[in-house]
Amino acid sequence: MEIQIASLHEIRAAARTFIAAMGDHTVFAFYGKMGAGKTTFIQAVCQELGVPEVITSPTFAIVNEYRAEPGAELIYHFDFYRINKLEEVYDLGYEDYFFSGALCFVEWPELIEELLPGDAVKVTIRQESDHSRTLTL
Ligand SMILES: Nc1ncnc2c1ncn2[C@@H]1O[C@H](COP(=O)(O)OP(=O)(O)OP(=O)(O)O)[C@@H](O)[C@H]1O
Ligand SMILES: [Mg+2]
Repeated sequence: MEIQIASLHEIRAAARTFIAAMGDHTVFAFYGKMGAGKTTFIQAVCQELGVPEVITSPTFAIVNEYRAEPGAELIYHFDFYRINKLEEVYDLGYEDYFFSGALCFVEWPELIEELLPGDAVKVTIRQESDHSRTLTL
């Protein structure tokens, strides 16, 4: 399916459409060029899932954790852009996240492609010439 996002004003509505399409899947791999809008969209989805404030840590972290409400299961947001070796991902204990049943949103999945679970959902974000975004899943 395709979700069109004309502007940032529409991103929360687009996030709701995305959430409705998520089904039972837990790992979502977001492909798209630098600046396509991966982080922005994942944060909008987290907000729609109830995360009160989505703050990215000031220092670069491979994984950020969000919680929708006290006691709720954690949501994991990965950014593998600065990964140099797969060893770093093993050291992180990636399996404990990807196979935990918790929601995992992944940026730059192409850098860890062989470690993605077979049932990860591939999502592509493209910036159009009018600056709108097209999301395909
Ligand atoms: N749907 C959208 N409509 C308009 N502007 C957007 C949209 N999504 C993101 N942007 C803008 O595009 C810029 C880049 O967004 P973002 O950081 O989310 O990209 P990214 O794909 O995560 O990039 P990177 O690969 O560097 O992590 C930001 O300034 C953001 O505000
Ligand atoms: Mg990003």
